Parts: sequence; C-alpha cells; structure tokens
Amino acid sequence: MAKLLTQKLEQLQNAFYLSAEQVREIAEKLQTEMTGGLSGQSSLQMLPTFMQLPAGSETGTFLAVDFGGTNVRLQLVELLGQGQYAVKKQHSCRLKDPSGRYDFTARETTGEALFDFLAGQIASFMEDACAASLGLTFSFPCRQLAANKAVLLHWTKEFQTSAVIGREIMSLLSAALAGRGLAWLQPAALINDTTGTLLTAAYSNPHADIGSICGTGHNTCYFEAKAPAMIINMEAGNFKHFPLTKYDRLLDSNSRQPGAQLLEKAVAGRYLGEICRLILLDMVEQGLLFRGKIPALLRQQQTIDTSELALLAADDTPSLLHIDRWLAAKHNIYPTTLTDRQVLKKIALTVILRSARLVGATYIGILQQLDPGLQRPHVIGLDGSLFEKMPGYLAKVQELLQEIFKDKAERISPVLTGSGSGIGAAIAAAVCADK
Ligand code: BGC
Repeated sequence: MAKLLTQKLEQLQNAFYLSAEQVREIAEKLQTEMTGGLSGQSSLQMLPTFMQLPAGSETGTFLAVDFGGTNVRLQLVELLGQGQYAVKKQHSCRLKDPSGRYDFTARETTGEALFDFLAGQIASFMEDACAASLGLTFSFPCRQLAANKAVLLHWTKEFQTSAVIGREIMSLLSAALAGRGLAWLQPAALINDTTGTLLTAAYSNPHADIGSICGTGHNTCYFEAKAPAMIINMEAGNFKHFPLTKYDRLLDSNSRQPGAQLLEKAVAGRYLGEICRLILLDMVEQGLLFRGKIPALLRQQQTIDTSELALLAADDTPSLLHIDRWLAAKHNIYPTTLTDRQVLKKIALTVILRSARLVGATYIGILQQLDPGLQRPHVIGLDGSLFEKMPGYLAKVQELLQEIFKDKAERISPVLTGSGSGIGAAIAAAVCADK
C-alpha cells in the first residue's frame, strides 16, 4: 500500500477508535446525563413510560403492531405464560416502497394517510385472525399520557410525514381502524420499541432490566426501581458527549435535523452506510482509491445501505471477491485493485467497530448507574438489524463489556430477543389487561 494511503487509513482508524479510557469517559458522561435527564436538563429525554415489568405468567392472544423505522410488522401473538409465547401469524410491509410507488415517511404524506395505510394492512391481516385487542409499538420519542396513549414529540430516523407531531398516536390509529370497520379492536397499549424489547426479555427472565435497539435507529430503556418504579425510555440516540469525526459533522449537516440524534447518527443502520460513503468519497477525491475516479453513485447521499456494509465487512475471500462483484454491479467500477477492496473492507470494519463500542459504552454507563459495583445479574434485551444481522457486532459489544468490567462482565448477559420490539407490544397489552 502506498505510504499516503497507509497514513490516511491510520488517521481514520485513530479518529474512529474508542480506547478503553474514552469508553469510560463516555460512560461517565452518560451517567451524568441520565441524572440530568430525570430533572429535565440533558440530551437524554428520559421519558416515563408508566409501564411495569411482566411477571411472565400473563396469557392471551393479542395483535402486535410494530411500527419501526423501515417496516410495519403485524403479529398475532399468543402468550402462553411461564415466559413462553407463540407467533401464530405474521405479515410485514415497508413504509417506503423501494420501487417508488409510495412513501409514507415523506413530508408529502399526512398522518391520516399513513395510519389509513396501516389500518388497511391490519384489516387484511385480521380477516383470518382472532384477537380482541392490540398493542402498538411506535418507535419514536413520545410523551406518554396513559398506557395506551402517547403524543409524538418529534420524528427521528429522517421521517417527515406531515401532521403527526404533537398528536396522540393511538387516536390516529383508532380513527383509521374505525374507518375500516375495525372499531371493535381494543387499543390496549402503546410502547416504544426499546420497552417492547425489555418486556420480551423480562417475560422469560427476571434479571432483565435494560432493553435496547440498534436497527434503523438506536435507543435504550431500563427499569427504574426507585419510586415511581417504571421503565424509562432514555431516547439515548440523542446523546452527544462522544468524539465526533469530520464525517459525523458532515453527515449531521446534510441530515433533516442537524444537531439532533448525534449518537444515533454514529451508530444506527440508517446512517452507517452513509458515513462509509462520505469516507470513500473523501479518499477518492484525494486520489487514494479507484485511481481518483469518482463513481456516480458515490456522489449521491444514502447509496450504501447497512446490508451492503455487512457484505463489505464480512468478505473473507482471499481476493475479496464479493466486494469486487458489488463494486462492479452496483457502482460500475471494474476492474478494481485488491488494495481498493482492502481499503473498503477496512473502512466498513472501522465504522462498525466504532458503532459497537459506542453502544457498549452507553450500556456501561447505564449499568454503573443502576448497580454501581455490579452486585447482581443483569440481562440486556437486544433487537434490531445491527444485532441480528451485522456479523460480529454483538460479539464486539460483549468484548467491550469484558474489557471494562473484567470478571464482573459475567454478570451481564446481552441477549437477542428476536422481534422483541413487536412481541413486547402483546406483552404490554397483557400487562395492562391484568391491572
Ligand atoms: C427513536 C426511538 C427508537 C429508536 C429505535 C429512534 O430514532 O427516537 O424512540 O426507540 O429510534 O427504533
């Protein structure tokens, strides 16, 4: 590798790598922000959810509606008690059609149209399904008014749908359901996806006290045992006390809400590919990659998604064949040198590693806050595409916990809850029904 390129890569890795010392500092800042957030002065909103943890004995069949960042997933969930459940039926649809026929995340769409689309999907789903009530997971910052009512505070994840901010979400869904003849479907609970993930983990494990998502967006919640005891939705994606690179600043200034959700923009699936694109573009412009020729797609925002990032990071073939094919097929760059491809892989790994260490640093802060000295076991329920699909991502978070907590890391179990964000809506509906 030419000297300049090696230097550039080193600079990049230094800017993105978080040492153990930096991780400790970030964790401490997070603790300060957690305390500040509970009294209203922080980048963390620390939203009360009024939701308790389940006993694991709740039973019944519920419709779970999971309104995430990219998809809406409907599930008919039967809670069997003893921490067991069965998904009887499920259906998923995208909020933005990849071929451009519709986009319910755009400014041109109204809340009414969005919820009518959702009600239409629910109406077809319920044709051969039986449930009397529904739990809704709505993965955005909301002020909770009651267990089944919450007002959207603001959009995140680049959503722009009009006439939803400031409105009560369950009423929007209920009105749309009534319009489709489904007024009988009882709206039992409305929760954040992190709450759903924690509820799912806690349904089968009494030590679960943290729930976290790293998918299109990022956020974490935990169970606050001090009175009034309840799950707190931290809105951790808005945390901002960590080192930003020039690429983070650029991505932020190109985003729809500059200055907001800085942690989310550094760790979540909606943004990781874009960070990579900005780094690549910079390197090509400096003549360090692809013989200095800028592929057209690299000039356009959001042209690398997280699954492509996973492909770059996971290519273990000696000649980086998968990366070669991806460059040829998607970017029309052919032939490429092995060095080009190695650089691409390094960039992907660097961006992914920082994401995992940043997310891990926030868990360290939360654990230190909940249980200084780590006296008891903790289960962290995890959901989202980074945990589920990014090769090695969860292992990197676990390695960091070991690096910082040493032997005591054994007391912490990060567990994948597999669609926990949605299943949790059914559990929440059951918890509310049992009250
Ligand atoms: C939202 C959170 C949500 C997270 C994960 C963020 O953009 O603000 O409420 O939990 O994404 O979906």
